[in-house]
Amino acid sequence: MPKMINLMVACAENRVMGRNGRLPWRIPEDSQFFHRQTAGRTIILGRICYQTWPRAREDGRRLIVITSDPSLERDGVRVAHSVPEALEIAEAMPGEVYVNGGERIFEEVLALPRPMRLHLTLVHAEVQGDRCFPEWRHLQWREVHRHDGEDENFRYTFLTLER
Ligand SMILES: NC(=O)c1ccc[n+]([C@@H]2O[C@H](COP(=O)([O-])OP(=O)(O)OC[C@H]3O[C@@H](n4cnc5c(N)ncnc54)[C@H](OP(=O)(O)O)[C@@H]3O)[C@@H](O)[C@H]2O)c1
Repeated sequence: MPKMINLMVACAENRVMGRNGRLPWRIPEDSQFFHRQTAGRTIILGRICYQTWPRAREDGRRLIVITSDPSLERDGVRVAHSVPEALEIAEAMPGEVYVNGGERIFEEVLALPRPMRLHLTLVHAEVQGDRCFPEWRHLQWREVHRHDGEDENFRYTFLTLER
């Protein structure tokens, strides 16, 4: 039985999740949730996500970076050339697998006929950006958790969906 895949994403109502290689917002509660949820996990992520996340290798995370650049391999960082290769490496590592994006990686993983859990922070705003989370609403999800939060800039909902 293949491992459960967890997708971690925060996106706006218009599905925007990134701008100029960064997050299009600063939402401290979401960032704390993200760091807590991914600590100690096996994580698949694209090269840009890896290179723009200075704390990626902290807190016991085991990283599988999808890139054509083999020189990124180091202690705690495996390199894979594709989503299938990354998932194969993850199968041999402990625990469930977490997928942190970016855009193409989310697209490929969401299309897989496998059990998955989506940890979605839905930011209740229309935001400008250049990276979007793929449309997920038409897929058959079961909602297992939801709670609302807000700060001075945004209202948002933490959702856990499974299929
Ligand atoms: N809000 C959120 O939750 C969230 C989550 C994730 C990302 N983001 C945002 O999205 C942006 C980063 O994501 P991104 O989509 O631009 O980049 P990315 O996926 O992190 O990195 C792109 C690079 O990864 C490699 N790659 C990605 N998909 C691949 C595939 N299917 N097969 C082979 N190689 C692949 C390639 O590396 P090489 O060029 O080295 O070959 C590609 O140039 C940032 O703005 C970030 O803040 C937001």
